[in-house]
Amino acid sequence: MTDVETAAAILRSGGLVAFPTETVYGLGADATNDRAVARIYEAKGRPQFNPLIAHVCDVEEAFALAEFPAAALTLAARFWPGPLTLVLKRKADCPVSLLASAGLESLALRVPQHPVALELIRAVGRPVVAPSANPSGRISPTTVQHVRDGLGGKVDFVIDGGPSVVGVESTVVSLLDEPRLLRAGGLAREAIEAALGVKLADADGGPMHSPGQLESHYAPHAKMRLNAKEWNAGEARLGFGAHDAPLNLSCSSDVVEAAANLFAMLHQLDAQGADVIAVAPIPMMGLGEAINDRLKRAAAPRP
Ligand code: TXA
Ligand code: MG
Repeated sequence: MTDVETAAAILRSGGLVAFPTETVYGLGADATNDRAVARIYEAKGRPQFNPLIAHVCDVEEAFALAEFPAAALTLAARFWPGPLTLVLKRKADCPVSLLASAGLESLALRVPQHPVALELIRAVGRPVVAPSANPSGRISPTTVQHVRDGLGGKVDFVIDGGPSVVGVESTVVSLLDEPRLLRAGGLAREAIEAALGVKLADADGGPMHSPGQLESHYAPHAKMRLNAKEWNAGEARLGFGAHDAPLNLSCSSDVVEAAANLFAMLHQLDAQGADVIAVAPIPMMGLGEAINDRLKRAAAPRP
């Protein structure tokens, strides 16, 4: 049996499989199996109110699960497969576990771009829910080593698909009312706004908050010092562009390259055991919005 066949059999029988996507590694379960979904929350130590993304292998499968208003059709046609998650109204007969929606009438859907992820979902023949494959609140995994370090024995099987090329999670857009950015991520806001021809509303500007946007998240063990324009003695350093350091997110100030490096470099610096990780300023353009969002959460006071 191939790894994908093994993984698909485990998922179909209610197990947990960590698998590669283009954004970060996911901790997958059969979306239609309540017990399997519950095991995800348990393995991650995740607060129950945080709903999960259902991953499907194509747009047709997505149509069977949720209502697609015109704006959703536009975004799905333009950006799937890819690092975009759409929050939509569940169809009445949607077979995805209500636990995955955490009691909401909506469902988050995404068609990932990684060939292994697509092959796996196709082999399972059902939607696969998958949060990032890290303990809740910790840095997201972009390699199998990160997954093994963080979740170890709590996963039944891990598929190695190489380092994640995007490196930050998908952008989450709600289409329950006006198009709203719930989480900045691997697809830049500007690209979505250009496709829709409207500006995206902000998550905190309206009643529809993203339940998963905990203040402290993505946290390394070290404290974080952001917008560091100079380096202090004893700090682990994360450079960007001309603010150089032994680890530099992107020497050429490319935010796409920086996103791909972000979590792996934070893992690496954290492993050095310093008390503080200082991070150079990152511009708020394109994927810079997602990078700054993750850094802000990593720096927030811990619960
Ligand atoms: O790139 C990604 O999105 C990765 C890979 C594995 O696909 N997955 C991921 O999942 O980041 P997770 O569970 O770590 O983040 C899902 C985000 C959370 O912020 C959650 O609150 C939001 O999506 N979300 C999920 N369902 C939702 C819903 N029904 N309404 C609003 N927000 C929802
Ligand atoms: Mg996560």
